[in-house]
Amino acid sequence: MVCLGNICRSPLAEGILQSKLSDKDFYVDSAGTGGYHVGAQPDYRSIAVAKKHGIDISQQTCRKFIEEDFDNFDIIYVMDTNNYSDIIKQARNQSQKDKVKLLLSETSSDKMQVPDPYYDDNGFEHVFELIDTACKVIAAKLTTT
Ligand code: 4NP
Repeated sequence: MVCLGNICRSPLAEGILQSKLSDKDFYVDSAGTGGYHVGAQPDYRSIAVAKKHGIDISQQTCRKFIEEDFDNFDIIYVMDTNNYSDIIKQARNQSQKDKVKLLLSETSSDKMQVPDPYYDDNGFEHVFELIDTACKVIAAKLTTT
């Protein structure tokens, strides 16, 4: 799960998808395209909205996306089109590019991007719902194929 800062959206996406899958069978992680917050805990507002829905993301630590992530993960979900182009630029071949998908492309949502809630205290619940809906579809697909 990838966003810009790895403190608001992608930590939520990591926690939400993880909560829907068995950790015996799936490894879910998140990273940011930017390195501004490396080493930090997720944003307190993401921690709060996750907690409200019964998910603890407080132990996550922010990291930057690295080239090896293309090898270590089967699917790389990005939150918005800026994340998409930033990650695609780092891909070395077509099979790496093929791993990168917009998270909301998994839902019927016509809004294909998860909006950045960093400057919007009220945006976190909406972001949670968007990510949760997409993760339900992803978890269903991953566990039936
Ligand atoms: P995120 O949100 O990409 O969902 O983690 C942001 C967090 C921090 C910043 C930008 C977006 N920032 O510029 O510090």
